[in-house]
Amino acid sequence: MALWAGRFKKEINANVNAFNSSISFDARMYKHDIMGSQAHAKMLAKQGIISRQNLTEILKGLNDILCELENGDLLFDPHAEDIHMFIEAELTKRYPESGKKLHTARSRNDQVALDLRLYTRDEIKDIQGMLMELMQVLINQAKGHTHTIMCGYTHLQRAQPITFAHHLMAYVEMFYRDYTRLDDCMKRLNVSPLGSGALATTTYPIDRHFVAQELHMNDIMYNSLDGVSDRDYAIELANDLAMIMMHLSRLSEEIILWCSWEFKYIELDDAYATGSSIMPQKKNPDIAELVRGKSARVINDVSTLLTMMKGLPLAYNKDMQEDKETLFDAIDQVKLCLPVFSDMINTMKVNKQRMQECAAKGFINATDCADYLVKKGKAFRDAYKTTGQLVAYCIDHDEVLETLPLDIYKSFDEVFEKDVYQAISLLTCVENRLVDGGPAPQTCQKAIKRMEKQLEAL
Ligand code: ARG
Repeated sequence: MALWAGRFKKEINANVNAFNSSISFDARMYKHDIMGSQAHAKMLAKQGIISRQNLTEILKGLNDILCELENGDLLFDPHAEDIHMFIEAELTKRYPESGKKLHTARSRNDQVALDLRLYTRDEIKDIQGMLMELMQVLINQAKGHTHTIMCGYTHLQRAQPITFAHHLMAYVEMFYRDYTRLDDCMKRLNVSPLGSGALATTTYPIDRHFVAQELHMNDIMYNSLDGVSDRDYAIELANDLAMIMMHLSRLSEEIILWCSWEFKYIELDDAYATGSSIMPQKKNPDIAELVRGKSARVINDVSTLLTMMKGLPLAYNKDMQEDKETLFDAIDQVKLCLPVFSDMINTMKVNKQRMQECAAKGFINATDCADYLVKKGKAFRDAYKTTGQLVAYCIDHDEVLETLPLDIYKSFDEVFEKDVYQAISLLTCVENRLVDGGPAPQTCQKAIKRMEKQLEAL
């Protein structure tokens, strides 16, 4: 018999019950439902709405339920309408008089709004821990490669020399923004809707601020209609998670390229790669591919939530029950991806030699050659043109700038001297880019230190 059976003359149709029920996916919020109910009950007792005796029984009953759910002595009833109904019914079985009072001055509408906030608050902390781990792994790899020359690309065409550390640190910046974006989401998420009731609060003299404090929330929500029907924080969180996945996916794409035979910049550890069922030579970067693939679904989760919400009149509508599977999916995918991704990065081997060799072949020092001419008094546009002609000559004659004889240089412009070779050596090109934010080893080391300080402050 459903808790709301009074108004009804018939039992709910079994298929409708199954269709309507959310316990199969909202059961995971059991801890937060109990936490919210305990805070609510404490407030009811403090305000004299229920007795001390009621409170003692409610707190004990809920604690027992929590322990039993955790150790497996109590199983979720798959026929329950949702986790909120299940726990209340279970409490009422144990302490009928007190259990029946728990829902005084509360609706499932403000209850579920609270539970989802409490649940996502914990998940955000978990995800931030995982992001921190990933950033540390990337920083560790970067520290070993501040002098590892690598070709930097634009349009996936060879552009200018950088270092592998500089490249990795670009991702640390992204994940740092992701981390702080979650902090920001937390500010708006960590406010209490409890007391909004079904939509219009209640006539009981409740103390909403007390509940918020009990639950370590920053404040209460100041409009009850908004309190029960706001899912902005869920959309914001999904968006933040989509951003994390987009960043992971970009790095995945690079890892996939880098471990191809065409690049061979890195080699994944055997434990973090897979083989082929038919081609004995294969070593596939499945983790990176799967992360790239999963980013699609998390990105779509944002759009599912926005589309689900956009036509809903105030206040609560059952459509909103659909928020959970979508948001949980985004959370689950990110939590699956981050740790395995960190391990993959941590164990990969970097082929310094190969990176250096590839960097030497693509005329990525052409800008520096032009800059050399500028230092000898030429205007940049003229220097740019001369260098372009030099590059064309090299391509036609299968040469590179590093070994092109000086007399040939001179045939393009008399100002070229022996020091051109020093000016265009890849190491010089990198070492001279000392501007803040640049790839020079000492600049990059500074950036690493700065980032480490920022991480400590989080
Ligand atoms: N399971 C519901 C949800 O997830 C709980 C709220 C139901 N409220 C109601 N009045 N039917 O949204």
